[in-house]
Amino acid sequence: MLLGGNETTRKIDSFAINELKIPGIVLMENAAISFVKHIDENEDNFLIICGKGNNGGDGYAIARQLFSKGKNVKIFCISNENMSNDCTINYKICKNMGIKIFYEIEELDKLLLNCNVVIEGIFGTGLNSEIKGIYCEIIEKINAVSNNKKIYSIDIPSGINGDTGEIMGISIKADITISFVTYKKGFLNSKIKNYLGKVIIENIGLNESNINHLINEYYLTPEMIKSFHIERNEDSHKGDFGKVLIFAGSNGFYGAGNIVAKSCVRSGVGLTTVITDKNNFSLNVFVPEAMSFPINFNNINENFEKLQNEILNSDVIAIGPGIGKSQQALEILEKLINIEKNNKGNMIKLVLDADALNLLAENRELFGNIKNRAILTPHLVEFSRLTGFLPDKINKNKLEVTKNFAKKYELTLLLKGKNTIITNGEILFVNSTGNSHMANGGMGDCLTGIICSLAGQKYDLIQSASIGAYLHGKIADELVKSQYIVNATDIIDNISKYINKIF
Ligand code: APR
Repeated sequence: MLLGGNETTRKIDSFAINELKIPGIVLMENAAISFVKHIDENEDNFLIICGKGNNGGDGYAIARQLFSKGKNVKIFCISNENMSNDCTINYKICKNMGIKIFYEIEELDKLLLNCNVVIEGIFGTGLNSEIKGIYCEIIEKINAVSNNKKIYSIDIPSGINGDTGEIMGISIKADITISFVTYKKGFLNSKIKNYLGKVIIENIGLNESNINHLINEYYLTPEMIKSFHIERNEDSHKGDFGKVLIFAGSNGFYGAGNIVAKSCVRSGVGLTTVITDKNNFSLNVFVPEAMSFPINFNNINENFEKLQNEILNSDVIAIGPGIGKSQQALEILEKLINIEKNNKGNMIKLVLDADALNLLAENRELFGNIKNRAILTPHLVEFSRLTGFLPDKINKNKLEVTKNFAKKYELTLLLKGKNTIITNGEILFVNSTGNSHMANGGMGDCLTGIICSLAGQKYDLIQSASIGAYLHGKIADELVKSQYIVNATDIIDNISKYINKIF
């Protein structure tokens, strides 16, 4: 699903009108028809509240559509001066058709009391400053009846900034927001969940292929994830699904390595080998399918030659969870990322997480070794170390900051958090799954395991990260329906089942 802000909406409208030659009034009509499709057949007695911009124009067009279906429709017109052109056209048609239009604020309480459903088109993406005066009064009156009237917002609840989700002084609290063409960036702001209600994205008569050159940001949907799927060939063998080498879980942190390994195995990879402390006997018990490559952390040179062969045999190397930041860990990290191609001549993909990111942040010359082949999976604090920006600064402009970082270092970045972001600097995906009940130790390790496994199965970097984030969150969303906490081991137990479901 396309993700866009106020500017993108203007770009799309202008492209549709000026290049595709679709008159604005036709787009407005299409928006109204799409909107009305979501109104229950049994609903009646509508009050449509219209501003003077195109959002209000959509409101008048929706009023006509409902009126033509025989519904009882009244309109509250906030102002009929300085209306946009298309708003004026629809306002006049409503008048000519005999739809009752009211203008006086004194009448609004009674109108609200007597209707069953409110549809508001006061402001959409054109809201440009704090709401004051009469507009504020109108929104207060609508919100005052929100407990016993159903409230629909057209495109955006009036008062919400489409770019940031900020409340511009006051905002409508909608039960349903029917938005057009793009999932608005502002909707990602978790503070306004109660203002948006249920969000539906509708078409205004454009095919995505007509406009996707205008946008390179997407909100991940099940359809998109499905479109990434690579069919498993019937004649295949384990070598076809990749060899993943994992360096995770030093002494005291065996669990981290074991979780990465088990998630990797359960996500469908061909072969998994774990570089682990020679005393980690639990690996073979927890993940008997994985092979272990024991090392002596006190004398890492012991096995370096053999390690060279393991690297050359790998399609993907995942590094980081529980490795610590010791000199030994750094040396192994360097060794693992020094070789660019495997013995098949293919680029070895890298998945870097946790301490590998912290080591990278402190040894920035290593960025040069991972270009065009790495997925980095930081959480906010790790990303702050990598960029040198404070978390607040990142949060204010997450999409831009992540995109710029990925572009600068030529890598794929997955910034974990609510609405995980995945970007390679060109394209950007915002994840739509996941919840706070999965915020506990081991979850990131589990995600790393899924992602490296997918990368082994020939998904490209951005697809591996996107499918991984979506699947990880989706499993947690399903499990949380019947349990309070979702742990990494819960996710692991369900990976295989849900891979089937999402594909
Ligand atoms: N207070 C009062 N008026 C305001 C404020 C404000 N804080 N902010 C903007 N306006 C006025 C503008 O001057 C303009 O008249 O509101 C009107 C613009 O409102 P919108 O309808 O949101 O903007 P517009 O660009 O005309 O339409 C965008 O059209 O494609 C549809 O619904 C879709 O949201 C989209 C909308």
